[in-house]
Amino acid sequence: MRITGEGIWGPPDDPDEAKRLLRRVVELGMDLIDTADSYGPEVSENLIAEALHPYPDALVVATKGGLRRTGPGAWPRDARPERLKECCEGSLRRLRLDRIDLYQLHAPDPKVPFEDSVGALKELQDEGKIRHIGISNVSVEQLDQAREVADVVSVQNRYNLTDRDSEQVLEACERRGIAFVPWFPLATGRLAEPGGVLDELARAHDATPAQIALAWLLARSRVMLPIPGTSSVEHLEENLAATRIELSPSEVEEIAGASAGVTDRR
Ligand SMILES: NC(=O)c1ccc[n+]([C@@H]2O[C@H](COP(=O)([O-])OP(=O)(O)OC[C@H]3O[C@@H](n4cnc5c(N)ncnc54)[C@H](OP(=O)(O)O)[C@@H]3O)[C@@H](O)[C@H]2O)c1
Repeated sequence: MRITGEGIWGPPDDPDEAKRLLRRVVELGMDLIDTADSYGPEVSENLIAEALHPYPDALVVATKGGLRRTGPGAWPRDARPERLKECCEGSLRRLRLDRIDLYQLHAPDPKVPFEDSVGALKELQDEGKIRHIGISNVSVEQLDQAREVADVVSVQNRYNLTDRDSEQVLEACERRGIAFVPWFPLATGRLAEPGGVLDELARAHDATPAQIALAWLLARSRVMLPIPGTSSVEHLEENLAATRIELSPSEVEEIAGASAGVTDRR
């Protein structure tokens, strides 16, 4: 999402740098890239294909459908079955794939019965166009509703240290053995400020507050799969290095306790 223009609209300022970043993802051995047809729109998927196709065997390019773009920062929902099928065909074409490894419903559309939207993904799966189905921006009830229609392997919801509204969805994913993909994982808000708990811990681990925020997510749950967004090779490398930080159980608790009640959704 961060390899597009301002407002996630149009091309990035430096498309060659965006492709260098994508190639670095693969060089570093990362095996999951999250994108969507709506990022740009189409820009992110096109850049991924230009930089990385033919893809290494181990790489999963996860994409999403179900939102329209009407301008910078505008994301109206449209998850009608016929529209989702159109979205999926477009993603297959842009990503130059016969089958998408993980296709996610970007968000439930209040104008469309949720099971109809998920049912469209199930039909695409039956046709061999999707390998696995994921859903995004859902409640526990919607997760269970979706599971009655299809096998769901992942849920992508907003979640970070300072925004844990999806705690119950995370717990439901843990119980059901489903990956939980927190978007906006780095919105560390006030905790990243000098003197805050992340700042102190970061110094103790010779790390940055962003790295501690990611390490906390990874320590928080075995089903957690953070997808930090970045336009910078330096930040990419820094974020990957966060996987090597081991927080003790007391540090995990300290961070969680210190951030309780702090809300930051910038
Ligand atoms: N399903 C959904 O509805 C939904 C919604 C939003 C996002 N997403 C997905 O989730 C991904 C992550 O969300 P996000 O990009 O909105 O938020 P995020 O990952 O919490 O934050 C991204 C921002 O943090 C900065 N950043 C990244 N690494 C950093 C580091 N090490 N130190 C300091 N700053 C750093 C980036 O700037 P630089 O570019 O300068 O690094 C970028 O502006 C998106 O890319 C997208 O794939 C999904």
